[in-house]
Amino acid sequence: MKVYITRKIQSKAIKHLRDKGFTVSVYKEDKPIPRNILMKNIKNVDALIPLLTDKIDKEVIDNMNKCKIIACYSVGYENIDVDYAKHKNIMVTNTPDVLTDSTADLAMTLALACSRRLFESRKLIDDGKFKHWKPDLLLGYEIKNKIFGIIGAGRIGEATAKRAYAFGAKIIYHSRSVNKKMEKELKAKKTSLNKLLKISDFISLHVPSNERTYHLLNKENLKLLKSNAVIINTARGNIIDEIELVKILKKGKIFSAGLDVYENEPKIHPELLKLKNVVLAPHIGSATIEARTAMAMLAAKNVVNVLKGKKPLTPI
Ligand code: GLV
Repeated sequence: MKVYITRKIQSKAIKHLRDKGFTVSVYKEDKPIPRNILMKNIKNVDALIPLLTDKIDKEVIDNMNKCKIIACYSVGYENIDVDYAKHKNIMVTNTPDVLTDSTADLAMTLALACSRRLFESRKLIDDGKFKHWKPDLLLGYEIKNKIFGIIGAGRIGEATAKRAYAFGAKIIYHSRSVNKKMEKELKAKKTSLNKLLKISDFISLHVPSNERTYHLLNKENLKLLKSNAVIINTARGNIIDEIELVKILKKGKIFSAGLDVYENEPKIHPELLKLKNVVLAPHIGSATIEARTAMAMLAAKNVVNVLKGKKPLTPI
């Protein structure tokens, strides 16, 4: 049976699939697979492992004659037409849990880098402007005793809340459902989105990208933010209206933003590149050796299970 992977992922997972007797083909170039090549190479595959940069829509799904599983190498799956795949009896899986800590670590990294003005600090040194110690040089904020607002209290939101709580923050959250564990262990309080935006010092986004969350933070509600607010986005770019975010950052209406994801990835709003009060990362939330290896292995194991007639580990 044939497995197609749209980019070179961790070799341990490719070996695992080969050891199980599958024929594995990998798109070898170091860039997203062009659609025509994808279409050509997947006609007769039994399993597809795509990346989040691949759009797996109806046309792509219809082009696969006997595929049984689309095993995403990501936790987000907004790039897949899941309903249509299911309708065609194709199982879709993702990689939850294994990237939770890595993404929550990055959310905290961005929160700290923003609040302690880490990149302005580096720039000052690079510009040869560090002449002497000063009582008011690059003052930032501590996390202790601040209100840390989590939007989306799923796995990654909860792991980020745990970290912020350990730093001494008060946790509030906005989510569709109650997170009892967060309420019990972190004394977290559930609140409305507007109240969270109004009172939080730090705001970290952890919702999936879908019609409900598109521009969840927009022109109207971004106005509610405090002047010392730090916004962190390690989820998906289109959850914030990027143009409106740039406007409030430019006007200095909030303290800072730490962004790992962008509305038109990999394009970054040109104004963001000029602003001092932003920290930018190139979508590296799950980019740890531990997480990426585990993601590759989980995708591979999902494929093995389904092609051997068993249940996948992490179905969507
Ligand atoms: C990364 O953004 C993922 O969805 O896994």
